[in-house]
Amino acid sequence: MSVRHSEASRLGEGAPTPRGSNTHSAAVLCVVCVLGSLLELSAGCPSVCVCNLTEADCSGRGLTALPPLALLPSSTHTLLLPNNHLSALPPSAFANLSSLERLDLSNNYLDNLPGGLFRELANLSALSLRNNSLTALDRDLLQGLGQLRRLDLSLNGLSAVPLGLLDETQGLTWLSLAGNRLHALERAAFEPLANLQTLRLGANPWECDCNLRDFKHWIEWLLYRGGRVDALECTLPKDLRGRDIRGVPIEISPSSAQPSRRRPRLMRRGSAADCVKQRYRPVSVRRAIGTVVIAGVVCGIVCIMMVAAAAYGCIYASLMAKYQRELKKRQPLMGDAEADGDAEDKQISSVA
Ligand SMILES: *[C@@H]1O[C@H](CO)[C@@H](O)[C@H](O)[C@H]1NC(C)=O
Ligand SMILES: *[C@@H]1O[C@H](CO)[C@@H](O)[C@H](O)[C@H]1NC(C)=O
Ligand SMILES: *[C@@H]1O[C@H](CO)[C@@H](O)[C@H](O)[C@H]1NC(C)=O
Ligand SMILES: *[C@@H]1O[C@H](CO)[C@@H](O)[C@H](O)[C@H]1NC(C)=O
Repeated sequence: MSVRHSEASRLGEGAPTPRGSNTHSAAVLCVVCVLGSLLELSAGCPSVCVCNLTEADCSGRGLTALPPLALLPSSTHTLLLPNNHLSALPPSAFANLSSLERLDLSNNYLDNLPGGLFRELANLSALSLRNNSLTALDRDLLQGLGQLRRLDLSLNGLSAVPLGLLDETQGLTWLSLAGNRLHALERAAFEPLANLQTLRLGANPWECDCNLRDFKHWIEWLLYRGGRVDALECTLPKDLRGRDIRGVPIEISPSSAQPSRRRPRLMRRGSAADCVKQRYRPVSVRRAIGTVVIAGVVCGIVCIMMVAAAAYGCIYASLMAKYQRELKKRQPLMGDAEADGDAEDKQISSVA
């Protein structure tokens, strides 16, 4: 709009036309235009968006780049950008928007987000990246989002959740990873989520072999403390297809019990070896083993000391006996000494 108006006015001024009134109206239009854009700047609402005091709604405007957001009023808590054509965002896209609490970027074509993109959004509590084209996430993507409660990453092409991604989002209560390309997840990536209540994992090609075992144990812990997890259906191995992982005893799943039948897959991923190496061993078992080892070492030391003490006693006793005998031989007339020697002899034999 504004561009068209200013072009019109420039044309009006530049062309040597006798139609003064036309030039005049163009100039008026231009002034209105400038005033309008000044007002817009002071309000801070980009022209393609609709704003009120707390919300900026830029959804479904066919945007391929972000509108100027830096001047959104600091009372803006909600920024809606869904249903556009955004495919990339600059690293400082959301700088200066620290008052945001809800950011919706769903239904776009985002395929690669820079690490630290949301760093300034310390008050953000809900973030949606649903239905984009994300295939990998930078492990620093969620840096600074200490207040995040809801994170929607569903309907993307994610094949992994990098270790460390969720380290700073320990307050998450709701997380969706549904509709991605996940076949396994690492338990350690999810350990920080001590407050999680709902986890959506459906519509992923889960491979129910031992690589998923630790994560399965984490899921069981989440359920145990009252969390909710939706369906988690196995895609592989074939004989478990469609079964829920929670009902599958992975410890004796076919991939480890009957390796010959699954040879091609196992060879491809080398999971047979992994399974043996990464056998799940809870902390308590490791501690128990440690205790046994320490106890064994202590017992051994005590035994050696007892043997040494006994040997010392024997040697001492025999030496003393020999000494006393020699003493008797040399001084046969000292009766008192003899008596003493007898007493000592008795003591020594009782010690031995
Ligand atoms: C802003 O608009 C949204 C819907 O467009 C509405 O839910 C919200 O209450 C409005 N806020 C204010 C302060 O008017
Ligand atoms: C953020 O705001 C500061 C001052 O308020 C300004 O200097 C800076 O350019 C802004 N950054 C962005 C990315 O808009
Ligand atoms: C973040 O939220 C807190 C509590 O609601 C508020 O006091 C603080 O001003 C907010 N920070 C910003 C930058 O809006
Ligand atoms: C995902 O986004 C595309 C393009 O934005 C849209 O056409 C499609 O309907 C969306 N799908 C869902 C399930 O929302």
